Amino acid sequence: MADPRIAVIGGSGVYKQSFLENAGEIKVETRFGGAVLKQGTFKGRTVYFMARHGGGHTIPPHLVNYRANIAALKKLNVDAVIATAAVGSLRRAMAPGTRVVIDQFIDFTRQRPLTFYEGEEGFVVHTDFSEPYCPGLRSLLLEVGKDLGQEMVNGGCYICTEGPRFETPAEIKMFESWGVDVVGMTNVPEVILAREAGLCYATIALPTNYAAGLSAEPLSQAEVLEAMEKDKPELEKLLMSVIAEIKPGFSCRCRDAGNNYPGEFNAK
Ligand code: HPA
Repeated sequence: MADPRIAVIGGSGVYKQSFLENAGEIKVETRFGGAVLKQGTFKGRTVYFMARHGGGHTIPPHLVNYRANIAALKKLNVDAVIATAAVGSLRRAMAPGTRVVIDQFIDFTRQRPLTFYEGEEGFVVHTDFSEPYCPGLRSLLLEVGKDLGQEMVNGGCYICTEGPRFETPAEIKMFESWGVDVVGMTNVPEVILAREAGLCYATIALPTNYAAGLSAEPLSQAEVLEAMEKDKPELEKLLMSVIAEIKPGFSCRCRDAGNNYPGEFNAK
């Protein structure tokens, strides 16, 4: 049985994976534009790494070419995607340093392309999101993280704001009343496109700060990056261990729940 092909999408503060051997940059062309990523090996298997905001953190959340990124992974026959996402926490139980393996999202974005299916195919596609994140990958992350002694939180609701500004305290109060646990700017449409493409996809949300109005300090990008930098060695341990645990035969129903987006292969 073939090894599953795995990709890591690194968010803020996660720009490379030092454990990848023979890592080289590749560019994949898709009909949505090009995507740049690293291809390397880990324990003998091919692993891809994509820096969501670009290697030098130059692409703001609302301008990331999410469709090109996911279409590129699909084109590379990736099976499973682990994404990291820096978030603000609305809960004391999800303090900076914990890892929230989110299981729900709310879309509060405003102006991003949200689908591969824009009607050009001549049919309409409605994708099931009863279980938005891959249950198999989520369980593995929780298991592996606990074994490593990391503080894992099973489930949480992520709200995706448009950014690039941080939220107002009034917005956070409203989100809290909606049952939101963490807030970030990038998980939508990434999670949607991954499902449309039939990829297994899970996100490790990494609280770097309490959300606006919940702490006395103003929010800053520097604070987010500093927290991510501090966490890097432990996060790499978690990623390495989970990649090693995605064994041949790993499969779940994400592949069928998605529509196996064929557009990339039909496109000019
Ligand atoms: N809000 C939105 N995105 C974030 C935050 C936040 O407080 N912290 C890290 N990413």
